[in-house]
Amino acid sequence: MDTTAILKELLPTYVLPIRGIHGVSHWARVLENGLRIAEVTGADIEVVTLFALFHDCRRANDGRDPDHGRRGAERAELLRGSLVRLSSAQFDLLSEACRLHTDGLTEGDPTVQACWDADRLDLPRVNIELKRRLICTEAAWELRDWARARAADRYEPGLVTQVWGV
Ligand SMILES: [Fe+2]
Ligand SMILES: [Fe+2]
Repeated sequence: MDTTAILKELLPTYVLPIRGIHGVSHWARVLENGLRIAEVTGADIEVVTLFALFHDCRRANDGRDPDHGRRGAERAELLRGSLVRLSSAQFDLLSEACRLHTDGLTEGDPTVQACWDADRLDLPRVNIELKRRLICTEAAWELRDWARARAADRYEPGLVTQVWGV
């Protein structure tokens, strides 16, 4: 999956500050959170990777925007078969993960759970403390100290500049 090409497609229509609280640094931390969770749970890393890029790409503001997950899923649908190459089953998981990521759910397919947890582990960037009942998997809960430190620092993973060229 060419995440750099996908980024180049998504950024021109991302209407918020690129390095804001829902921008590329968040996407990269969500990606790295998700891959670490997947190492333990066996979640689908292609889906987890694409979730990181798409879930917030259609946010209209940095506050309350309850429909942005659905719009993110639609954006992925538009690129399906070109930059987004997934099986139907994988795409369904990506779509579900994007559409429902702000609904506070914790039950679901392990790949969907990894997506939601990857996003929630980054909540300390906006001073929201992690709560066990909002984390889907034990694997993610075990990563909370590592993820909290990176989130609180708004740490930007090297891939943002080195791979994505942002
Ligand atoms: Fe979101
Ligand atoms: Fe997010």
